[in-house]
Amino acid sequence: MAGPDFEVLLKGAMGLDASSLGPSAIARAIAQRQQACQLADVHAYYLRLTSDAAEMQALVEAVVVPETWFFRDREAFVALADIAAGLLLADPMRKLRLLSLPCASGEEPYSMAIALLDAGVDPQRFRIDAADISHVAIDAARRASYGLNSFRNADLEFRDRHFRASGGKWQPSDAVRDCVDFLQGNLFAPGFLPGQGQYDIILCRNVLIYFGADMQAEAIAILLRLLGPDGALFVGPSETGLLPRQKLVSAHWPMAFAFRRQAPKPLGKVTGKFPATPALPAPTPAAAPRRGTGAGSGRASLAGRARAGVGPVIAPAVRGKASGLALGQALADQGRLAEAASACEQHLREDGPTSDAYCLLGLIREAAGDKAAAAVLFRKALYLDPRHAESLAHLALLLERQGDAHGAHLLRKRLRRLDSVEEA
Ligand SMILES: C[S@@+](CC[C@H](N)C(=O)[O-])C[C@H]1O[C@@H](n2cnc3c(N)ncnc32)[C@H](O)[C@@H]1O
Repeated sequence: MAGPDFEVLLKGAMGLDASSLGPSAIARAIAQRQQACQLADVHAYYLRLTSDAAEMQALVEAVVVPETWFFRDREAFVALADIAAGLLLADPMRKLRLLSLPCASGEEPYSMAIALLDAGVDPQRFRIDAADISHVAIDAARRASYGLNSFRNADLEFRDRHFRASGGKWQPSDAVRDCVDFLQGNLFAPGFLPGQGQYDIILCRNVLIYFGADMQAEAIAILLRLLGPDGALFVGPSETGLLPRQKLVSAHWPMAFAFRRQAPKPLGKVTGKFPATPALPAPTPAAAPRRGTGAGSGRASLAGRARAGVGPVIAPAVRGKASGLALGQALADQGRLAEAASACEQHLREDGPTSDAYCLLGLIREAAGDKAAAAVLFRKALYLDPRHAESLAHLALLLERQGDAHGAHLLRKRLRRLDSVEEA
């Protein structure tokens, strides 16, 4: 007679593909729970599992991998704040809904809150829901008291600003905690997050790898149901290949593992000489460029980007201009970075150098991963116009990410001076 099939039970309970953890991890968890139930016989334990939902949850708790830490894959949080700022600036009445699924013990959703607060986003303009199948993890997230293991990045400056320390642990401030609502739940449960509407930004990182192909496809279908039309979905570094390219496209943020819905109407194919400038929306008052970052924190350049309405690739300063630059921008908007760069270069050749053109080309190079070229281009823009706020903000962020805190600080000082001159 075949032995009890715990793997099928676990797949049904949480989508787990037992081979992702290895047979010994599952066997250890079963032995541990069988002992806790004081059942000598493995068949008896199997029967208990099939008839006792609480014991099934206890086994789930024993097999989950709640591994997480603050600002895990940091670039994702830079992209998240930037995308959020773009959405909010495009619609001044909008309130964003974000989801961390799974959130494990809360480090991820609290990092999302910190990223947005540091970007200068008003806490009234976003809410974060955070869910996980593990009761233990959700209880820990609600307690929100973290040890050293939760802080694995070299740069812990955020901890000084947003946490209270006590007894070798750190607790996020109320301002951070108030941004997040936790709930326990299985993402495969029928009607998971019922009546909650769609989300603008979803982080579903480092869980798809624990599911088999069929459950991965089901999970992705659920995520697509939950994701709003202009939303962004973030996955883990080893999960990007699982996403359907006919539905989702890269958001072109190096190392952020972020995706947007496939654009419904691509521009016509660009050949040889660039076609007439595509019709682009004129800048809305909210998206009109404003100078300066105003904030003095380590992540102030994000605030600058938010206030300046700078999207992942696009400088709004150049939005709507009737030139090859508008084409460069439209192409960059679609993630067609090589063509966008060619359009900018052609514009520079034919119309002469401008700060806007250098800045846009810098953003395109940065999105393509060439940070050195991006820095040179931002500096060229500043050579032409030392008050070019977008170039100051982008170069500051770039220097900060390259570890040049002093250089970034000096640029932000220049931005703040622009702010105060404008406000005077
Ligand atoms: C490795 S953690 C990832 C946490 C966080 N997203 C990160 O990237 O740091 C995986 C989490 O997935 C949760 N999980 C596993 N299966 C789940 C399911 N079916 N529904 C909801 N959460 C699940 C586990 O409880 C665990 O906390």
